[in-house]
Amino acid sequence: MKPITKIPLTMKPETHDESTCLTRRSSRRDFLLTGSGAVAATFLMSCSALPGAEAQEVVGVRYERKAIARISELTNDTPLDFAYPFDDLYSQNLLIKLGMRAAGGVGPAQDIVAFNTLCTHMGWPVGKYNAEHKVLGACPLHLTTFDLRRRGMVAAGHGTQNLPQIVLEVEGDELYAIGIIGLVFGKTDNLMRT
Ligand code: FES
Repeated sequence: MKPITKIPLTMKPETHDESTCLTRRSSRRDFLLTGSGAVAATFLMSCSALPGAEAQEVVGVRYERKAIARISELTNDTPLDFAYPFDDLYSQNLLIKLGMRAAGGVGPAQDIVAFNTLCTHMGWPVGKYNAEHKVLGACPLHLTTFDLRRRGMVAAGHGTQNLPQIVLEVEGDELYAIGIIGLVFGKTDNLMRT
């Protein structure tokens, strides 16, 4: 019979450290990118950086890395439309420099974010950016409004799901889309062609 190993009562559980998580995420992604030698981006998310997902992992989703803008050309509260990961109606997104730090934001002020613009309630184009409140919407159909500082969280209306957030990467002055957190309305796989 194997002896039972006792855990000392003084041992503390591992505490959550966002910087550790980000470092681990980065190094694992780098490892996968290096291993594949491909342009497709594979990203791993763990820890509470994801909406409502403590210790959640999104693993092995492969997206193209696409240049979408230059940071130096962005101004606060001026939206920029772009298509990703395809050019179809489901791939319409909005890039915005909020002028204040946001969850998932990139750039020097961590204020640049991007979201798919199909409402997660019933798939209608979600409406205009509201610079005063940093939200997208209200959606014309049932008034769902999404908070762009909080990962596209529903701030009001009938929707229950966050807007899918485009994962951004910075290289020098260039901004790249490298993935999507959350499922785009109408899809069972964001990389499914419609
Ligand atoms: S489709 Fe947008 S709130 Fe219903």
